[in-house]
Amino acid sequence: MPKTIVMYCLMRAFTLLGVYVLFGCMGEGAVQADTPVGKANQVSIEHYPVSPIGNAPGASPQTRALALSLGAGINFGNMLDAPTEGAWGLKVEDEFIALVGNKGFSRHVRLPVRWSNHASTDAAAVIDPEFFKRVDSVVDRLLAGGSTVVLNMHHYRQLDGDPLDATDLSVDPSVVRVRFLAMWDQIAQRYAGKDDRLIFELYNEPHGIQESTWNDLLSRAVRVIRKSNPQRALVVGPTLWNSASALEKLVLPPDPNLILTVHHYEPFNFTHQGADWVQPTKPLGVDCCDANQAALMTSLLDTAVKQAARLGYPIFVGEFGAYSLAPEAARIRYLRLMREAMADRGMPWYYWELAAGFGVYDPAKHEFRTNIKQALFQP
Ligand code: GLC
Repeated sequence: MPKTIVMYCLMRAFTLLGVYVLFGCMGEGAVQADTPVGKANQVSIEHYPVSPIGNAPGASPQTRALALSLGAGINFGNMLDAPTEGAWGLKVEDEFIALVGNKGFSRHVRLPVRWSNHASTDAAAVIDPEFFKRVDSVVDRLLAGGSTVVLNMHHYRQLDGDPLDATDLSVDPSVVRVRFLAMWDQIAQRYAGKDDRLIFELYNEPHGIQESTWNDLLSRAVRVIRKSNPQRALVVGPTLWNSASALEKLVLPPDPNLILTVHHYEPFNFTHQGADWVQPTKPLGVDCCDANQAALMTSLLDTAVKQAARLGYPIFVGEFGAYSLAPEAARIRYLRLMREAMADRGMPWYYWELAAGFGVYDPAKHEFRTNIKQALFQP
């Protein structure tokens, strides 16, 4: 390049467009920015590298202590995990937040959030500032009340290859996975300064097309979150809808601040009888819990405990529960059995859920369903 052009380029390079113009003049093409802006739809997943290769070292003392401090928890389900808050008949009410931490109830909340429907549809997946503020206010109030909060990403339907819900945003298949990482980058940065009682859970119930790709994606997600949150506890679960039987396939990055999770809805034909989101809908009238059913319930917990010990990390049950159309007395037996079995194995848990179809709380009457609350939370 002639000297005059080089000088011109150098001068321009230190003006407003800076480094970008310098490389442009030298014919090098555009500089890849550190964040996926501009050429949003062309950002490849390689923009978010996998975690360093190495054996997972097992949990650090502080993450073990945090896991031990968890206990009987509650899912704030069907609220921020609906396509939009309120679309499934529930919003995070002040009344619900006020319940948390009261005597005889939980002070541990799992907060499912459908981020994907509140973010731009390009690879940058810029999260709607108003939605972010809404989540901030819920998280902040729960933390201020002394509770622990597991904040997750829930129902990003395209990530699993599932059909969209009616009002879900549809995104180009080429940006589905990179959006997941871009959203975590933003969420992690936003909450980096929060109390250690805020825990991030990477994704609810990976399944479907994620069966073969989840280990890769979680490794990238851990790495991007670690840029802003070097030590925050992160929850990861296996595929097959967080089934204990898939823990043997889970590959963890070399990170000491992980906690494992499984979901447990067996016997499924009992817990989901009459649930209209399960097709074909399971017939009503299934009882619980005979010896075979009980054996199934406890054997899955045993698998979870065994696999967690092999991997070297604490584990909790992030969801279990029986739908309201299950016979009442059987539902209570199921809850007691699960509660005792999890306590025997030292596993913290989160009941699915507070105030919808499985709900321990009746939002119309503004009161707890006493029998469910007792079975779960009282001596
Ligand atoms: C899963 C789903 C949730 C559903 C629950 C019980 O967590 O994410 O929407 O209600 O299981 O089926």
